[in-house]
Amino acid sequence: MTSSTKKIVLSAVQPTNSPHIGNYLGAIKNWVPLLDQYQCIFFAVDLHSITVKQDPAELRENTYQAIANYIACGIDPKKAILFIQSQVPEHLELAWILTCNSSMGELSRMTQYKDKSQKHGAHIPTGLFIYPVLMAADILLYGTQYVPVGEDQKQHLELARDLAERMNNAYGPLFTVPDPMIQKTGARVMSLQDPENKMSKSDPLAGATVFLNDSDKEIEKKFKRAVTDSGTEVSAENQSNGIKNLIQIQASFLNEDYDTVLNRYIGKQYGYLKIDTANVAINAIRPIREKTAEILKDRDYLDQILKAGREEAKRRAQILLNEVYKRVGFVRQ
Ligand code: TYM
Repeated sequence: MTSSTKKIVLSAVQPTNSPHIGNYLGAIKNWVPLLDQYQCIFFAVDLHSITVKQDPAELRENTYQAIANYIACGIDPKKAILFIQSQVPEHLELAWILTCNSSMGELSRMTQYKDKSQKHGAHIPTGLFIYPVLMAADILLYGTQYVPVGEDQKQHLELARDLAERMNNAYGPLFTVPDPMIQKTGARVMSLQDPENKMSKSDPLAGATVFLNDSDKEIEKKFKRAVTDSGTEVSAENQSNGIKNLIQIQASFLNEDYDTVLNRYIGKQYGYLKIDTANVAINAIRPIREKTAEILKDRDYLDQILKAGREEAKRRAQILLNEVYKRVGFVRQ
């Protein structure tokens, strides 16, 4: 298949802090096997990051780090279009059109909005509310067919599908209706300290989140202290959320089934599962951490990749956006 006939795969991560193992296992790791079969588009969504307060210097650094991370995780910049979202303002232009075609009701139903807005009391940032529309614009702007993401993005994907269909019905065929690609294992990595909740970058609990830039020692410590339950041995019949989470993390890093990993630990003390999972994570994360640090030293290299990515993304985005503008009734000269 030539690059122009390949279906489009698109995904992104927010450049807030370093990515964690949830971002890696739920998303980035699964992008790598798609590089040859699809035209892949991956970017750092800095516009999404500012829906909550960011320190400008940190945001800039984290944005470079996100792109360096993609490459270190195995995303070959020769095979994928890599760029920074704010450098392709067409995303914002389409987001406005989609905003005018979305409703307050459907946005209020987004569970991520409900969760995140709770932390803001009476002053909920408007961006948090509109955020899923910007994400829909990210996806629809490129005729995306598949979106490889973790489970928490499923509802946002449904909104993108609804908006695509609504626009196509109103203005004639414009957008491809995208499908989510969600893995069986690793799509919902839970907090190591509170396995009822998903792992997140902003978790205030110490040791809850394992970051891709954590040292070997930090990773080991976090897994050793992972919250499990009052039992002592792994049982075949049922596993608590904490145990399930460790098994899933290990299975996902090793590309094994849940049951294959479970079978190794039945009747063994929890400690073995914790230590082995820590080692599996350390062995996977170490090369990523080292490669990321190396890539980050060469800003010229990163800037070149980002320039090429931005130009190609813009070229593609402008074709679709121009058509949208015409269909909506804007004067084009
Ligand atoms: P973000 O930055 O929160 O997360 C990036 C990716 O990581 C996945 N993820 C997880 N997977 C498993 N377990 C977890 N605990 C976990 N936490 C996060 C997410 O599902 C996601 O795939 N809105 C998006 C970014 C975005 C985007 C897009 C994604 C903006 N535009 C267009 C795809 C297509 C977000 O905030 O992801």
